[in-house]
Amino acid sequence: MPDVDEMKEGKKYYTDVPQQTEGFFLKGSNALDWGMKNRLARIFNPKTGRTVMLAVDHGYFQGPTTGLERIDINILPLVPYADTLMLTRGILRSIVPPSVSQSIVLRVSGGTSILKELSNEEIAVDIEDSIRLNVCAMAVQVFIGGEYERQSIINMTKMVDIGTRYGIPTLAVTAVGKDMAKDARYFRLATRICAELGAHYIKTYYVEDGFETVTASCPVPIVMAGGKKLPELDALTMACRAVQEGAAGVDMGRNIFQSESPVAMIQAVKAVVHDNETPAKAFDLYNTLKNE
Ligand code: R5P
Repeated sequence: MPDVDEMKEGKKYYTDVPQQTEGFFLKGSNALDWGMKNRLARIFNPKTGRTVMLAVDHGYFQGPTTGLERIDINILPLVPYADTLMLTRGILRSIVPPSVSQSIVLRVSGGTSILKELSNEEIAVDIEDSIRLNVCAMAVQVFIGGEYERQSIINMTKMVDIGTRYGIPTLAVTAVGKDMAKDARYFRLATRICAELGAHYIKTYYVEDGFETVTASCPVPIVMAGGKKLPELDALTMACRAVQEGAAGVDMGRNIFQSESPVAMIQAVKAVVHDNETPAKAFDLYNTLKNE
């Protein structure tokens, strides 16, 4: 039992110091609840406002992708350099140690394979499992213009509703069909639809012409997807341009884990994203680390 008189003496109200009420650092996220913000602050570094997400969820529709054949051997050494891991619950439970401190973004849409129409997805993870796995966001693929466009949009809005109930953000992943033009006009359309319908942040591809109009017209943070493997300097240049043109970081897979030196590449990407390093200097860093 504390001493009542002594407590009275010790009270300090700082009546001359107004309580600070800080705004949340992420674009468009100030009106979210505490749990949502706390989870987003584990994905995006509050110091830089950006994230390096390592995407290794490709197996959910294409099996053992090149570079992901042995996630225990190829991917676990990269984990310390990532802010966030984006993956499926199968890989999380079977391979990733629960002691990792990186935040987890869980792939929750699925149900198709590369052998069939990819846009025909459903929600493939119950919210209870996302809570059980302590994830910081749930990722849903959205196929704007795809054959099952409506179904994929409704998958996303359902996750936004369910996630909002429990304070878990939804990441909308804009998927591009084989025959669609990957240009700024398309990505403005796709990202804006996802944001208007409640996605908390959005993953989309980089386009050389007009990417800044995509980030400017999207009211919530955008992270850049890496796409097909490029030469390392080109991938670093793309990541650099994306963040300089308004992306709040990257969600890269193949350009990291298919690199000649994935451990060096993720550190070079991190330098571009968090330290505003130039592509040339980040590439020097890549070469130095690769040869160590
Ligand atoms: C694919 O559908 C997954 O969402 C990947 O996470 C995404 O494509 C990012 O990986 P990459 O940088 O290899 O394109």
